[in-house]
Amino acid sequence: MENFASRYQSVLVPTIFVPWAKELIRRVDMKGGERVLDLGCGTGVVSRQIAEAGLVPSALTGVDHNPDMLGVARALFSDDGIKAQWIEADAAALPFDDDAFDVAFCQQALQFFPDRPAALKELRRVMKPGGRVVFCVQKGLDLNPMLRAQASALDAYVGEGAGAAVRAICSLPDEEVLRHLFEGAGFRAIDVDEVTLELHHPDARAFAAGAMGGMHTGDKLSGLADSKIDLAIDAFLTGLGKLFDGTAMRFPHVSNVVVAEA
Ligand SMILES: C[S@@+](CC[C@H](N)C(=O)[O-])C[C@H]1O[C@@H](n2cnc3c(N)ncnc32)[C@H](O)[C@@H]1O
Repeated sequence: MENFASRYQSVLVPTIFVPWAKELIRRVDMKGGERVLDLGCGTGVVSRQIAEAGLVPSALTGVDHNPDMLGVARALFSDDGIKAQWIEADAAALPFDDDAFDVAFCQQALQFFPDRPAALKELRRVMKPGGRVVFCVQKGLDLNPMLRAQASALDAYVGEGAGAAVRAICSLPDEEVLRHLFEGAGFRAIDVDEVTLELHHPDARAFAAGAMGGMHTGDKLSGLADSKIDLAIDAFLTGLGKLFDGTAMRFPHVSNVVVAEA
């Protein structure tokens, strides 16, 4: 049976997470032979983009606490000369020695860590001094109209509070709070940049269905009658307003990008 991780991979990853992974990789001047950590790796999109960019780390390690996500990552990564490993662990208790990594990526995951200060301290411990980390963390619903439309459609049709899963994506929007978290963990040269990617999908109905199904609410959504799922999709598309042209959709997707040194 299709699980949450494979639904997440099918629509959300190509539309949203591949463009962000390219953006993050562009911001770190990676050299061959470095040891790279992909923290909260999900289905491994950042690691695959590193490989696709022709960068060859000496070791590539994806960490996630969800075994289904790691299963998809493992299945999709073709090693082509890159030594990759996929480790199930909590971000606040990483099973690695001190100074184990030169570069770390953490794409749209910090906001979900239950103890963010502990996770960042743990990341700093496993980074070599001077190692670079790059994160992206979604800004608020006010700046992200696609997520706003999705939250209201889920609240209205999948049940009260279903939109909470979308609001959680936007639960760490503030630049100063982020800066403070990184400073508290001992990172330096901290740069926080608000970045907007203009994203699109040629088939907005397919995106709406995939986006709502690719969240933890997906099981609840697929349990609804088809007519109700259609209503939820209609509400999502109506909520997009002018971002939906009747077939395709274009939307700004806004995150803080943090680059810092251990
Ligand atoms: C929105 S997904 C992002 C995944 C991936 N970085 C991407 O760009 O597609 C957030 C990921 O963080 C993981 N995660 C959440 N809390 C975690 C924790 N405490 N420790 C490790 N991973 C965690 C989730 O399982 C999920 O795969």
